[in-house]
This record gives sequence, C-alpha cells and structure tokens, in this order.
Amino acid sequence: MTSDTIAEPTFDRHLSDDWREQALLADVTAGLGSLPRRLTPRWLYDDRGSELYSEITRLPEYYLTEAERAVLHRAADEIVELSGADTLIELGSGTSDKTTTLLDAFAAVDRLERFVPLDVSEQTLRDAAAELAERYPGLRVHGVIGDFVEHLAVVPHEGVPLLAFLGSTIGNFYPAERAAFFRAVAGWLPDDGHLLLGVDLVKPIDRIMAAYNDEAGVTAAFTLNVLEVINRELDADFDLSAFEHVGMWDPNHSRVDLRLRSLRDQHVTIERTGMQLDIAEDEEIRAEISTKFTFRQLDVEFAAAGLEAVRAWNSDGGEGALVMGRRV
Ligand code: SAH
Ligand code: TRP
Repeated sequence: MTSDTIAEPTFDRHLSDDWREQALLADVTAGLGSLPRRLTPRWLYDDRGSELYSEITRLPEYYLTEAERAVLHRAADEIVELSGADTLIELGSGTSDKTTTLLDAFAAVDRLERFVPLDVSEQTLRDAAAELAERYPGLRVHGVIGDFVEHLAVVPHEGVPLLAFLGSTIGNFYPAERAAFFRAVAGWLPDDGHLLLGVDLVKPIDRIMAAYNDEAGVTAAFTLNVLEVINRELDADFDLSAFEHVGMWDPNHSRVDLRLRSLRDQHVTIERTGMQLDIAEDEEIRAEISTKFTFRQLDVEFAAAGLEAVRAWNSDGGEGALVMGRRV
C-alpha cells in the first residue's frame, strides 16, 4: 500500500458551534421546562459519553453489540449482493467499529465506491473516518457531522445507496419520532436503494434489564454524564451525586425507560437558559428509552411508512436482528 493511494477523508459539517448551542438551549428549555422533565438523547454523546458508550459495548451484560457483530459477519456477503450498493451510508456511525465487517465484504468484491458516516459526535466521527480511509485505500470516505433526523435530507445522493442504521439506535426514538424517521427514510431512498436496520429484539426481561443496570455502573455514568454536558455548555450547577440512574421495563411500550432520579429536594440553576428548577426528591428526569422489537411490529411500522422488509437475519441466540428494507 503506497501513501498516494490513500485519499484523505472529506467532511461536511452541519453542526456549527452556534447550531450546537442553539439546539442544546432549545432542547433543555423545552425538555427540562416541562413535566415530566425530559432530556434529548443526542447530548449523551460528547467525547466522554462516546467513550462510555464504547465501554458499554464491551460489558458482559450488554449482549447487543456482539450479537450484531456476529450477524453482520454471517450476513455480510448476502447484504452486499442483495443491496447491489456502491455507496454505504451509516447514520449514528460512532466509531464504525462493527461496520468494518460490512466494508470487508464490499472490499472483497471491489464494489464499494464511497462510505458516508454521519454522526453528531464530531471527534469520534473524524477519528473513525481517518482510520477507515487508511484501512480501505481507494474508498472515498466522506464524513457528515450532523444530526440524523435534521440532516438526512442533505446527505449526498450518489450511486446506489445502502443506508445502515445499526446498534438499535432506532430503539432510542419515541414512537412518533420513529414513524417520522421511517417516512423520511422512505422519502430519501431512491428506487434502487436499501435500508439496513439493526434492532434489539424482545426477549426475557431479566436479560434486557441486566444490560441497562450493569454491575460496573458504566450505564449509570453514561446517563449521568448528560448533566455534566449541561453544566459545562449551559453554565448549570447540577450536582451529579444527587441523582441516581434507574432503568425500568415498560411492558406497554416494550421498552426500557432510563431515568435520573433525584435523591433529594434540590434547586438547580441553568444560567444560559435563565432557568431555576426545583426538583423534588424521587422526581425522575427521563433520559432515554431503548425499545425492543418484534418482526411483526417492524412490518407494521415499515408498511405505514411505505417501506417493506426484503430480508432479515437473526443472531444465533435471537438477541438482535438485521433487517433489510426498501421502499414499496
Ligand atoms: N452505530 C454504533 C453507535 C451507536 S451509539 C453502534 O452500533 O455501536 C449511537 C450513535 O449515534 C453515537 O455515535 C451518537 O453520537 C450518535 N447519535 C446520537 N444521536 C444522534 C443524532 N441525533 N444525530 C446523529 N448522531 C447521533
Ligand atoms: N442503542 C443503544 C441501546 O438502546 C444505546 C444504548 C446502550 C444506551 N446503552 C445505553 C442508551 C444506555 C442509553 C443508556 O441499547
């Protein structure tokens, strides 16, 4: 491999410092200003949060990452063939760690022209793009620093796309957001394009809950870190030791509900929004949900959005699945 065969990755940056600030201000004002109080998950992934997420993926209790990696490994050749893609786009790509499995399969048949990872976490994305450009000489790596909801419409339309959305990040959307996202994907996909969705499946509750209440407390540190982001970026004075992470199973929505519970009556000031919050003991701030799916449920939601599943692959233990879809 000679150095002149390695093209530097290029980037589109939709998240200016001003965008970040305005978006965080708007999310916090709306979410913490209403009852029950709610946070928006995209702020979980600052540099520290991205690191903690990587740690989560290596926890013995967190089954999903390894299960998805194994399915990707098994299904990769078929995904390459079925999709006929020459362009791989990955939403919420993070470190794109598992994605190399797919990129290897594309490389083996010399099919892929470009890889377009998109993530809100700028440094994580830049590091991943640089590493992948080096690992796959000849592949054009074009990173998009953006929000996968707000900026899907401006992801470049080039070639025959495979739009990957892995790690059950779709499970972190509320139902209305999920429906809107599927419709946006159906609107974005050209006739020859495909979606590759990684989902966590419904399974015994104990196994699910262990993954979000890990012994080492990494998930707790991950959700609590969002308060640190607000402290730093909006001049707030959240005392992290006055909150505890709680994860509970919501059977009605088939999802884990992750919350930050206040350990005492407390007063919090958020300078940049001008907010003064009185948070009661035992009051819970909703931090994130993680929905678990069935194929039947996904079929219904795909159909409502104008999508259809063309193929699905289960992990051996039935933990998670990959579903390939296209527009009807
Ligand atoms: N795809 C990886 C990472 C999943 S973690 C995997 O399967 O392991 C979720 C990723 O989505 C993180 O990298 C986070 O930075 C990114 N993310 C979260 N909210 C986002 C948003 N609104 N827009 C773009 N990226 C987002
Ligand atoms: N998409 C992943 C999931 O729902 C993200 C995740 C893993 C997560 N662990 C978490 C989100 C803990 C919030 C808290 O499993």
